Amino acid sequence: MCGIVGYVGSLDARTIVLDGLKKLEYRGYDSSGIALRCNNDFKIFKDKGRIAHLCEITDYSFKTNMGIAHTRWATHGMVNYENSHPHISNNKRFILVHNGIIENYRKLKIDYLSDYSFYSETDSEVIVNLIEFYSKKMSAEQAIRKAMSMLEGSYALLILDKENMDTIYCVKNKTPLNIGVSNDGITIASDIIAFPSNVNKFLSLDDQRFAIIKNNNVKIFDLMGFEVEANYKELKLDEYSISKGNYEHYMLKEIEEQPDVIRRIITKYFDNENVLIDKNLIEAIKNSDKINFVACGTSLYASFMGKYFFEKLCGIPTECFIASELVYSNPLMTKKPIFIFVSQSGETLDCITVMKKYKDLGYKIVSITNSVESTMAYFSDFILDICANTEVSVASTKSYTASIAVMSILAKAVSNQKTNLKNNLNRVSLVIENIIQDLKPLIKDMASKIKDSNAIFYIGRGIDYWACDEGALKLKEISYINTESYSSGELKHGTIALIEKGTPVIAIVTQEGTNSIVRSNLEEAISRGAKGYVISLESLAYSKDDIIIPNVAHYLTPLVSVVVCQMLAYYVALYKNNDIDRPKNLAKSVTVE
Ligand code: M6R
Repeated sequence: MCGIVGYVGSLDARTIVLDGLKKLEYRGYDSSGIALRCNNDFKIFKDKGRIAHLCEITDYSFKTNMGIAHTRWATHGMVNYENSHPHISNNKRFILVHNGIIENYRKLKIDYLSDYSFYSETDSEVIVNLIEFYSKKMSAEQAIRKAMSMLEGSYALLILDKENMDTIYCVKNKTPLNIGVSNDGITIASDIIAFPSNVNKFLSLDDQRFAIIKNNNVKIFDLMGFEVEANYKELKLDEYSISKGNYEHYMLKEIEEQPDVIRRIITKYFDNENVLIDKNLIEAIKNSDKINFVACGTSLYASFMGKYFFEKLCGIPTECFIASELVYSNPLMTKKPIFIFVSQSGETLDCITVMKKYKDLGYKIVSITNSVESTMAYFSDFILDICANTEVSVASTKSYTASIAVMSILAKAVSNQKTNLKNNLNRVSLVIENIIQDLKPLIKDMASKIKDSNAIFYIGRGIDYWACDEGALKLKEISYINTESYSSGELKHGTIALIEKGTPVIAIVTQEGTNSIVRSNLEEAISRGAKGYVISLESLAYSKDDIIIPNVAHYLTPLVSVVVCQMLAYYVALYKNNDIDRPKNLAKSVTVE
């Protein structure tokens, strides 16, 4: 899980790849490095630490029109200088950056590279030396293809060769790599957001493809060396989404974008009261006997709302699976299941692995995603765009609410019931605005009270419990406070033992049927020393509640209660002076198993 970027053209390669790398920092930020052409040689700068540090250690004194760069999320080996990319082969001929994981690297090292010295603990250094090994008997192109044929795992590679100083070699398998074309040159990147703004067309390399970029020209080959067609697409990037605007952090900007995202979804999926969704998709769901949602993290928590909608509105049994669990387990399948994958990035490897597994078995695959050009979209029979525009902050916010909004519309379309969904979603967007504008001081105040806690609990029942799951994830990932989400009824079956004097327990109450019982469960915790907080819906609120949210339809309340949780997490992290957009140990897109 790393980001790579390369450039060759007429402009300063250093600026282009460093700018691109900054936009890829969401993919990992343990260490970074760059290799730049300098006359007839390449200069390498790398170190542990963020890209800002790489910019400081890079030499700006020479002209360069070609370079490759890398930002790392450590998978093999510690975070240190030696393990940072680029890696260089023993005879210093080949230089490489790698995103992915080579599963058989130890075997390759023993079988072919026993005479080689290794300076890092990475699998990537094995690849660059394997290429060197074969280059002694064949051309660079053949050596790269030969090495590719022996690698097991995932890899996007950019390779430089000192004997072919005008060429960047690109290789791709199971992890994304895009090639963008502009008037001044060619940029290669793990994600199209890293392209300079003048790139007007791009292609996403297919798996097991090899590209040679030379003389402003891109040629693509398969593993056998046969040239294949380059299929370019027009590039339209939303510049606003990938800039921070006037905000200090992307996370706050993205939280505050949520009303617009909901309105964009309404515009896309409604024509007056009619839902605009592919009829074939609606039929495919109607004809299925079970819906299986598959996702990770925030997208998984959003899927629980999908389960709620499809079971309540459509009467179709629905289950939510953690993608990484489905990779190795083979749960019993019904006769006609359909799989709905939820993924902001569309590049989460656990989801892709499961998707391929069930696609190969012949099941219909749907993706609800923010990335309609992603790998998951590519493998899907149906794609639903969540219209959230680029989400940069590692902590997901707008993709959670957007995914749920799209699921609610899909469920309505399948159920054919006359609900007031369009108005209700419009109301949600207004209430989120109200939370952002009017409830901010109260949320900040609550954040100041809980910021020094060692542990925090969120409790709720039913759909409030699912919002608690997401609220707790937000708090833990950016505030680093151990925060757990509990079904309030479960607390007394063991976990209540952890309540100490002053432990914050935050109850979310937005459902009439469970309002009093959740409040009673909170009282039980308070009697044991907890400091209780309540986030409630206006119609159910007690005057002493801490945060009272204006009413929305009862089945859409996680769309608003979660915004309070997002802001609470944001302000706690702000008080603690944490790196909000790039929390420690994390990366935005999890492209490793
Ligand atoms: O891109 P995806 O939605 O597939 O990502 C899945 C999770 O890694 C992601 O939702 C993660 O939990 C959030 N970024 C946490 O805020």
